[in-house]
Amino acid sequence: MKKLIMASAVVLSALASQSALADAMAAEAAQGKVLFNHNCHACHSEDSSKNTFGPSLSGVVGRKAGSMPRFAYSDAMKAAGFSWTEDQLRLWITDNEKLVPGTRMRHVSITDKAEQDYLIAYLKTL
Ligand code: HEC
Repeated sequence: MKKLIMASAVVLSALASQSALADAMAAEAAQGKVLFNHNCHACHSEDSSKNTFGPSLSGVVGRKAGSMPRFAYSDAMKAAGFSWTEDQLRLWITDNEKLVPGTRMRHVSITDKAEQDYLIAYLKTL
């Protein structure tokens, strides 16, 4: 019986920390949305059917670079040959011109690690 009680306590605390983790992730994504609106939204929509000045960023995490239909990418972006992992996104927002020399996207440089985390957490929700 004691074992059972202990086991359920373990399960309960695991559940509690899981929902705490989910809360923390939601909070990061909310911060990321603020940063996105400030730094990216002028050129990027979150709607998969809407490319604006830049390609839609809907589903960007895991997507092949330069692959959004009906968007006129630069030759550099079309030839990038990688997919948007978290690491690649981090490099991109740190210095996009370094990651893909010749890209048409205006230079961005978000170097604060926490801000990068928030932005990526938000991009993951799109
Ligand atoms: C001034 C307009 C502008 C701003 C601001 C901007 N972008 Fe872009 N972005 C573009 C353009 C244009 C491209 C396409 C680049 C190319 O074809 O070389 C692009 C491409 C991208 C891509 C590659 C998408 C794909 O389909 O491969 C990602 C990811 C991206 N931007 C993320 C961001 C993020 C995150 C921000 C904010 C921190 C941001 N961009 C700010 C214009 C912008």
